[in-house]
Amino acid sequence: ARAVPVICIDGPTASGKGTLAAALAARLGWHYLDSGALYRATALAARQAGVALDDEAALARLAAALPLRFEAGRVWLDGRDVSEALRSEQTGMDASALAPLPAVRAALLNLQRGMARLPGLVADGRDMGTVVFADAPLKVFLTASAETRAERRYKQLAAKGISANIARLRDDLQARDARDASRAAAPLKAAQDALALDNSCLSIEQSVQQVLDWWQDRQPF
Ligand code: CDP
Ligand code: CDP
Repeated sequence: ARAVPVICIDGPTASGKGTLAAALAARLGWHYLDSGALYRATALAARQAGVALDDEAALARLAAALPLRFEAGRVWLDGRDVSEALRSEQTGMDASALAPLPAVRAALLNLQRGMARLPGLVADGRDMGTVVFADAPLKVFLTASAETRAERRYKQLAAKGISANIARLRDDLQARDARDASRAAAPLKAAQDALALDNSCLSIEQSVQQVLDWWQDRQPF
């Protein structure tokens, strides 16, 4: 059987991974995996079930049987539309709190690998290139300055009518990145063979074009 090509987009929070990965998937006609949504959904499921964020065995059971559905741009957990709750800063923090637990990561591994289907997959997260799709032919490590990322989150929140403090947002995202980068299991870091892309001064379209160019360069003809 033909190997399924996978493009990995890893990087810190608000670097634009999701935006880039979804746009690439649309342009290539490939599948898209938002791996962070799985950690976020586990955090929401834990809250719903009253499970503590350090109860590794119970969290792993929740992660292994997530009643999650992606449909028409919405996300459903156990029949409830959780699209907004999933994206909240609190849910991101909660996801980062349970993400270091090896049993939780193991429970989500097959689910993620099962998303690799022809004609291809674009996957974004923290350990797509280092762990989940370590054999992927193209890995991108996406970064942007903390100031730029805080501004992007600020604008995303403002668009939803939520007012936030930029300095506080920057502190929060740096704290989450530090936790993600310092954990023992699958920390946030560039794979050895990843190509670095700092998009602080790039438009979304320029970032998409850069990765498409890299992908073209890797084709035999
Ligand atoms: O998935 P991740 O948290 O890394 O970031 P995102 O939610 O995809 O992107 C954060 C925000 O940055 C979005 O509002 C994008 O429109 C914006 N942005 C971008 O993704 N790429 C740029 N080159 C410039 C802005
Ligand atoms: O969009 P943003 O970058 O803020 O977050 P996300 O990609 O939705 O991930 C939320 C949290 O889940 C991260 O801070 C990580 O702790 C965790 N995560 C992970 O450990 N491994 C992944 N492949 C994806 C997310």
